Amino acid sequence: MRILSSATRPTEAQCLVFLFAKDSPIAPAVSAQALVRDAAASARFTGEAGSTLDLYVNEGESLLRLLLIGTGSNNATDMEKAGAAISAKLLTSGVVHVAVEGADLDAEALGHLALGAQLRAWRIDTYRTKLTDKQKPSLATLTLVSEAADLADRLAETDALASGVMLTRELVAEPANILYPESFVERCQALAALGIEVSVLDQDDMAALGMGALLGVAQGSVRPARLLAMRWDGTGGAQAKPLCFVGKGVTFDTGGISIKPAAGMEDMKWDMGGAGAVAGLMKTLALRKANTHVVGICGLVENMPDGAAQRPGDIVKTMSGQTVEVLNTDAEGRLVLCDAIWWAQQTFQPDTLVDLATLTGAMIVALGTEHGGLFSNDDELAGQLLEAGLATGDKLWRFPLSDAYDKLIDSPIADMKNIGPRYAGSITAAQFIKRFVQDGVKWAHLDIAGMVWADKPGLTWDKGATGYGVRILDELVRKHYQG
Ligand code: BES
Ligand code: MN
Ligand code: ZN
Repeated sequence: MRILSSATRPTEAQCLVFLFAKDSPIAPAVSAQALVRDAAASARFTGEAGSTLDLYVNEGESLLRLLLIGTGSNNATDMEKAGAAISAKLLTSGVVHVAVEGADLDAEALGHLALGAQLRAWRIDTYRTKLTDKQKPSLATLTLVSEAADLADRLAETDALASGVMLTRELVAEPANILYPESFVERCQALAALGIEVSVLDQDDMAALGMGALLGVAQGSVRPARLLAMRWDGTGGAQAKPLCFVGKGVTFDTGGISIKPAAGMEDMKWDMGGAGAVAGLMKTLALRKANTHVVGICGLVENMPDGAAQRPGDIVKTMSGQTVEVLNTDAEGRLVLCDAIWWAQQTFQPDTLVDLATLTGAMIVALGTEHGGLFSNDDELAGQLLEAGLATGDKLWRFPLSDAYDKLIDSPIADMKNIGPRYAGSITAAQFIKRFVQDGVKWAHLDIAGMVWADKPGLTWDKGATGYGVRILDELVRKHYQG
């Protein structure tokens, strides 16, 4: 669906949307105004954010389709809810063109409405060959009828953000027979057209660099691993050191020889959600030509059981030189990240590095699907991320790190083991990663295991891939890391 803006009502609109804040008087600019007001009262429509009322009224000779939408208190979240409600209601309604009366709302509020509408309209129909016409999306354009200052600029920004989130969702939703390390890279090659420099390491490159941990995970799969780096420099070289984001991209996680139970294993197609968020962010930054220097790195592997797979008890050597006893081949994400993060630091010398990963089931036990887990060695960076989470709705909650937790992953035979004892599984996983963060680097780790996939529709998503993470990172960059 495309978002447009216009000073006047477009004639092709088959449905008119009127927006009402909570408990504000209902008086849409149509001749059947009194009727609409009575209908709203009768249906107990009071303008709560995201609430809707569908009506048909006479307008002169013709029949007019109306949709009343509640915008609550008109704040960012409520405007996004309202936009999402428009899409949820009209996506397959037969309406092709909808016009939204912007009233006196400013560009910022309308931008949030547009974002909510765009995000909620996303779906993946690639593999549905039997959709009837009635089941197919009809909605093609949403026109904001408004003369708000700077609206076009604002809409370009929200479009950049929505495009990034939608790329993430697409990557997350694709099944693992279609999306594997090489095809993940292929899809990201398209970002080169936006000015992103894409570079790729293959298995020989990684072997030469000594990435024994990442390659150990990959060795049970017929799909070769890749390390993908996407660089966006919107500063024209003025900012030497880039900000680095590193994503876990396990395109399928069977658990390897420490194999997972069959029930629910299909979920592990989205074990690349961290890498997906990094790719989506890069698209957003390039589309909005952000004045910043950022590198997004994705560690891409498939974790399979096989005659060639690594075994519990194997000891691997990481690129950092540290050795790891692999006690459980299902704790593979940290093995991928440790080499990807080390390589990122050696190659780009960042001051700040943030990794994102669907790292532990324990994170979902702790936080459910409301917050992602945040771990950091730097209070300022942690604060910035928490704030970005609140501002965007992709919420985070901070967890502790300490030497006492760190000790739990010492190994009797190698420098460390890849699992801790039963408890505090998300923290020991974060402590593992921390052992690969170089002195002086500000680092945060986001364990987003509970956030990348939704079993029921949410604020601005249907069930399925949420695109979580892109908005936090974009907000972080926007607020603190761009000129
Ligand atoms: N990808 C999983 C974590 C996960 C589980 C994400 C469920 C989303 C939903 C990760 O690779 C994993 O298997 N972690 C293990 C670690 C354990 C073996 C220490 C886990 O959480 O069980
Ligand atoms: Mn695993
Ligand atoms: Zn995993």
